[in-house]
Amino acid sequence: MINLVLFGPPGAGKGTQSEKIIRKYGLIHLSTGDLLRAEIAAGTTLGLEAKQLMDQGILVPDAVVIGMIENKIKENQTAPGFIFDGFPRTVAQAEALDTLLGKFNLSISNMIALEVNEEVLTNRLLERGKTSGRPDDQNEDLIRKRVQEYTEKTAPVANFYKAQNKFTGINGIGEIEAIFNEIVAILEA
Ligand code: AP5
Ligand code: MG
Repeated sequence: MINLVLFGPPGAGKGTQSEKIIRKYGLIHLSTGDLLRAEIAAGTTLGLEAKQLMDQGILVPDAVVIGMIENKIKENQTAPGFIFDGFPRTVAQAEALDTLLGKFNLSISNMIALEVNEEVLTNRLLERGKTSGRPDDQNEDLIRKRVQEYTEKTAPVANFYKAQNKFTGINGIGEIEAIFNEIVAILEA
């Protein structure tokens, strides 16, 4: 069983690589960003509250995303494994995830971090913003705010998995296929 945390700043390629990994391994993709956008699209109270924060590039409260992940793990107990994309994003979320997985006798097998510098991230997201319709891709200030949230609150999560000897960082700049091959090599090592 593979339970992978795919890590990296906004625009690092987490969603892009997740799609390829689920196609190869049949894992369940758990992207908290996608789950939150689905709540927004459905017009739920949770979605409306989350939208206020997401549109400013600010993280939503830990309890909200932890609750969503818990529901999804419960719903998919026969899955061959999970890819966590955009979660955990704070040390508190990482601790909650370990506790939650422990209840199901599961654990994280690896964290793979896609390393991409801010200039490349900004260009990728501004480009995607032309067609994505994502409000948080629309201008450079918002993208910088997202990167700042990442640096302050999310980057420390890497240390949590380093302490468990589960962390591998890879270069997230280059051909999508080459990056995918590197991920596969780590998963199969
Ligand atoms: P979320 O949806 O997770 O967005 P994000 O982390 O900002 O990351 P993105 O989805 O923008 O980037 P990605 O790494 O998936 O890259 P992608 O593959 O799309 O979160 C949105 C918001 O929700 C947060 O700001 C927060 O408010 C809230 N939220 C979500 N989770 C939360 C949590 N756990 N706790 C609290 N709040 C939470 O690629 C980006 C672009 O680059 C694409 O156009 C792609 O085609 C292109 N690209 C990808 N790889 C390459 C490559 N190798 N070369 C060239 N281009 C590439
Ligand atoms: Mg994404």
